[in-house]
Amino acid sequence: MTDGPKKTGLRKGLATYGDAEFSLFLRRVFIKAMGYTDDALDRPIIGITDTYSDFNPCHGNVPDLIEAVKRGVMLAGGMPMKFPTVSIAESFSHPTSMFLRNLMALDTEEMVRAQPMDAVVLIGGCDKTIPAQLMGAASADIPAIVLPTGPMLVGHHKGEVLGACTDCRRMWAAFRAGTIDEAEIDALSGRLAPTKGTCMVMGTASTVACMTEALGMCLPGAGSAPATHADRIRLAEASGAAAVKLAAAGRRPSDIMTEAAFRNAFTVLQAIGGSTNAVVHFTAVAARLGIRIDMAAFDRMGLDVPVLVDLKPSGEHYMEHFHWAGGVPKLLKEISAHLDMTTLTVTGGTLADYAAGAEDVPDQTVIRTPAYPIAVGGGLAVLHGNLAPGGALIKRSASSEKLMRHEGRAVVFDGLEDMTNRLDSDDLDVTADDILVLRHAGPKGAPGMPEAGYIPIPRKLARQGVKDMVRISDARMSGTAFGTIVLHITPESAIGGPLALVQSGDRIRLDANARTLDLLVDDAELTRRRAAWTPPPPHPGSDRGYLKLYIDEVLGADQGCDFAFCLPEALRIAPSS
Ligand code: FES
Repeated sequence: MTDGPKKTGLRKGLATYGDAEFSLFLRRVFIKAMGYTDDALDRPIIGITDTYSDFNPCHGNVPDLIEAVKRGVMLAGGMPMKFPTVSIAESFSHPTSMFLRNLMALDTEEMVRAQPMDAVVLIGGCDKTIPAQLMGAASADIPAIVLPTGPMLVGHHKGEVLGACTDCRRMWAAFRAGTIDEAEIDALSGRLAPTKGTCMVMGTASTVACMTEALGMCLPGAGSAPATHADRIRLAEASGAAAVKLAAAGRRPSDIMTEAAFRNAFTVLQAIGGSTNAVVHFTAVAARLGIRIDMAAFDRMGLDVPVLVDLKPSGEHYMEHFHWAGGVPKLLKEISAHLDMTTLTVTGGTLADYAAGAEDVPDQTVIRTPAYPIAVGGGLAVLHGNLAPGGALIKRSASSEKLMRHEGRAVVFDGLEDMTNRLDSDDLDVTADDILVLRHAGPKGAPGMPEAGYIPIPRKLARQGVKDMVRISDARMSGTAFGTIVLHITPESAIGGPLALVQSGDRIRLDANARTLDLLVDDAELTRRRAAWTPPPPHPGSDRGYLKLYIDEVLGADQGCDFAFCLPEALRIAPSS
């Protein structure tokens, strides 16, 4: 029972009683209440995050995955120990899941650090969970491997293939426009998400999982295998075994998540036409390791890297089709000229090994070749201008080509409540050529930067058949949404960003090709408006608890919306107030 030179297993992170040997003795006493033998307790301990929750159907397969991870750990000679952390499901998180991401990151970091484990398997899936786990793992920096829960299978309705939640929005828009009735929307509620698992389009969850694979933090294939397929269980077993090897090698997240690895992940983001949310999340993960993402380089990367993956909402197919077409390894092979294939992965090998293992599937059309891309010129583009001095994002691959250059009259909504109250009014002064503006929807403004950037088409225009308009905000948007939508305007309006100064009737010009977003109001008038501007009143309840912490510490979208105090000193900046 002596403490060896290297603290491993139960000897790690002893509780403080003033006598280390007693602390270890006490730990053994209590853990033996579970019936473990000394042999089991002397093995490398592999933590497994249990993020199952009855509120989280995207994690509905977690109990099965945990069993398989445990099997893999034991087959490799380790001792598995599952433990709970926060679980976040998109539609069950008030006011928005993004508000809770940093809480999950803090929880993951502290529980991984506090409990004695030599490595950890992070099981996550729904949008904010893997980012939170990567943020926590980056800061705790003990050997870690991610196991995504995997995408659900497609749904079917009247001969049509459906995907959550691109088609949830499309069907809801059809219901609002009166083209489908109440009985049909009820039937659809049981068909759009037909299995456990994450949304099966290239939304945020799928984007994050694919980028995590490109980052080297999960096994090849783990980004795309369906949640309900036997392959997912086998990946869980293999992840458990890989965690034991990671522990033996002492390979840490900081060894794997290097600057080059993040460049690879962002390159994959462009090539999959992925979710804008991933930019915020991976900026936050990188910052935890002292790495600053160069957004200008990311934008330039978009000009070089073609969109090759033909998935909803930018394309036609779904995650299960992407998986059977070869998944991330096949994509890596196709875009290898744009990647650093020497980066390290959780297997101990390199990204080149992932690509080398790619399956060649004859005649598949889901993963295109660079000679035959879905789109060129960037899936995501970074905009600047007097309306977004700190930057904004647009998902070009999900936008209407005819609106990529557009000038229109602003129709301004002062927050979500104002938008809800007026958007569908027949009296709303709006035409299809106008630009809908939503403010007070950023990290501090909403709070939590909700996915409200997908401003619905006003009902009277939807009834006229209008499908898309330019919409701009400091909010985020679901990765499953489609439309010409400018997001993440920084600095946000609640702290006095220029978005706060826009008035209905102003002219706004978007030129996504030139990467600009401008408010066509002269400087003297803007100065006058700024002098008259007053900040919005504090959110009820923001004088205490997590809401206070959040409002006091959250950074802007350009900083990944992390808490300032979670960043390493070199990147730490004071949150704007
Ligand atoms: Fe969980 Fe889409 S709601 S992944």
